[in-house]
Amino acid sequence: MTNILDDEQHVIRARVSLTHQIDRGSVVLSSPLAGAFLNVPRHPFVPVFYRREREQFIPWRITDGDAEAWLDAVYTDDSLITEVDGVHAEHAARAGVTGVPTSSSTAPSLMADMLDALDVKEGDEVYEAGAGSGYNAAMLCHLAGDKHVTTVDRSGALTALARERLNGVGFDPLVIHGDGARDIPHDATYDRIIATASVWQVPPLWLERCRSGGILVVPLKGTLAGGMIARLTKLPDGTAAGRILHTPAAFMPLKTGAEVEASTPAIPDSPSRQAALSGRALDDWTFSFFAQLHMPRGLVRTYGLSDDGLHVTTLYDPADGSATRIEDRPEAAPLVTSTGPRDLWAPLEEAHQLWRRLHRPRREWFGIDVTPAEQAVTYTAPDGQTRRWTL
Ligand SMILES: C[S@@+](CC[C@H](N)C(=O)[O-])C[C@H]1O[C@@H](n2cnc3c(N)ncnc32)[C@H](O)[C@@H]1O
Repeated sequence: MTNILDDEQHVIRARVSLTHQIDRGSVVLSSPLAGAFLNVPRHPFVPVFYRREREQFIPWRITDGDAEAWLDAVYTDDSLITEVDGVHAEHAARAGVTGVPTSSSTAPSLMADMLDALDVKEGDEVYEAGAGSGYNAAMLCHLAGDKHVTTVDRSGALTALARERLNGVGFDPLVIHGDGARDIPHDATYDRIIATASVWQVPPLWLERCRSGGILVVPLKGTLAGGMIARLTKLPDGTAAGRILHTPAAFMPLKTGAEVEASTPAIPDSPSRQAALSGRALDDWTFSFFAQLHMPRGLVRTYGLSDDGLHVTTLYDPADGSATRIEDRPEAAPLVTSTGPRDLWAPLEEAHQLWRRLHRPRREWFGIDVTPAEQAVTYTAPDGQTRRWTL
């Protein structure tokens, strides 16, 4: 223990500051939620996390220099990356690692927004897919009572640490090592189901195991950056219906074990065509969730800057081998070049036109319905016309 964590007043002030940061943002905290953020400390769940220096993720402990700066970072409204390509910050070399984050403690305001939508009451049976650091599970324990919470992570190391840390702050929920989409305890049903990793469809078992009248809060994300969060109510007929939250969210994917690295094939320089829309349109989170509804599920997108500093996007559909490059050009319309059977940019140009015709609809104007047979996002325009996109 270092002095700063022994100074109870200092640590309480940090929690109060975090609660104020959340409340000053777009989330108005209910009193039970404010109580959760004020009472449950974050630092025991993230004793080591990564800070980013360019491409490098450097592990950061309270003992690494300025303890106050470390504590400030823990109680700032940011996500804290704890694992990169399966290497937990606790086990990383001091020089750091490179790769893709595979676990993090979610930004507290996003947690608050999702917990608000989940509306957990004391005694509710709650299931969380994506235990990660255990901090969100601790919130659920505070709200529902720890004996009513089950949390699952696909990593044995993460579940062991989460269990230890939850016990350390006095909570003893059921912490399971498994696949959150499948390894739900036999016969268990829940009043509340929350995922803190993203899927493109609500896993059938979550629908099945949610009790009638229960609530599911599920991040939906494809390969584009801006995902959405669905809030669904389970209906007596076994289906679920609800709305998309206003909050954009880019949760890491719920891994199924069937992930394959698909690399985009070379795209020749011709034939090409001009486009009205730059590939940068997909960087716009107000559009990207809508664009995702028009893209094949497995579409791979890469993007970056050319040597001239111009935006270049490539799209690749491994299902049929189509690949398309969209290049910005100085003082000329973007250039689109494709190989394979389809031009993958054309449906997204159409989607962009539709989005503008619909007056750039916001996420929270969309509904969602989920049945065992079909899952669809819906939008009803003021003229009463409803559009559906099957997930
Ligand atoms: C954003 S983190 C979760 C944050 C966590 N709730 C917290 O408070 O720290 C996403 C987590 O989902 C986990 N995950 C990915 N695929 C999973 C799966 N199929 N089943 C369960 N957990 C999974 C990852 O290991 C990672 O820890």
